[in-house]
Amino acid sequence: MALIKKFRIKKFKENEPVLKLEKISMFFNKRQILSNLDLAINKQEILGMLGPNGVGKSTIFNIITGLKSPSFGKVIINKIDCTNIPIYERATKFNIGYVPQYGGFIQDLTLLENLKLVAEIHIKDKENRKIKIEKIISQFELEPLLQIKSKHLSGGQKKKLVIAMALINDPNILLLDEPFAALDILTIKMLQEIIVNLQSLDKITVVVCDHQARDLLSCVDRAIVLSDGKIIASGSPDEIIKDSGAKTAYFGDEFKIN
Ligand SMILES: Nc1ncnc2c1ncn2[C@@H]1O[C@H](COP(=O)(O)OP(=O)(O)O)[C@@H](O)[C@H]1O
Ligand SMILES: [Mg+2]
Repeated sequence: MALIKKFRIKKFKENEPVLKLEKISMFFNKRQILSNLDLAINKQEILGMLGPNGVGKSTIFNIITGLKSPSFGKVIINKIDCTNIPIYERATKFNIGYVPQYGGFIQDLTLLENLKLVAEIHIKDKENRKIKIEKIISQFELEPLLQIKSKHLSGGQKKKLVIAMALINDPNILLLDEPFAALDILTIKMLQEIIVNLQSLDKITVVVCDHQARDLLSCVDRAIVLSDGKIIASGSPDEIIKDSGAKTAYFGDEFKIN
């Protein structure tokens, strides 16, 4: 298990869901992807979503951000039903940050230009914009990369950039779609530390999905396993790997986290 575990917040005193999916079903051309799914995510929790390719993890993120409307069910953020609130309003009113699996930045702009672009959209006051950009640059140690065209950044640097962009409007909830994919071990460790710091220092609720189950389980408080459109297991990393349903559908018999 990664060292970062010691920073984790294990108990959620408030236990107040900041985000709830209620009886969500999703069909694509009559094919059912999600089936009556209920999920409550607590304030300042790091929740991991695991499940085989094509199970609907990205679809869940799309439903939370408002990129897609569920066929049935409700999305509730801060106790407000926002199922019918459009994506732009949802992002700003409910402060949701989203880091997509691919892209999320403009290739031909430099790293600094990408940060400025997002800041111009979200922060009206020029001075506040400047302060926020400087804070993000220092938080993510981006100083040496500012003038590099984003397409020339390494995989890990690109991920850092997209996370930094998602943080510019101070999200309460950050959604990370497969952040560890195709990254080396040290970069994964760096991202895990970023995620845990977002929780402990910035008080952000984080939902992360990834195929690197071990990497994911070492930085989350709770994980869920999806199979056949449903949540078949939910629990702490130690609990979930022992769950017989999760073993059959996802982990197999040999899986260990330490
Ligand atoms: N716009 C779409 N039209 C039709 N099928 C889609 C669409 N988006 C996703 N799907 C299907 O929904 C299922 C879930 O996709 P996705 O949420 O991307 O899975 P995951 O992220 O878990 O790999 C897949 O079978 C995918 O082919
Ligand atoms: Mg996906």
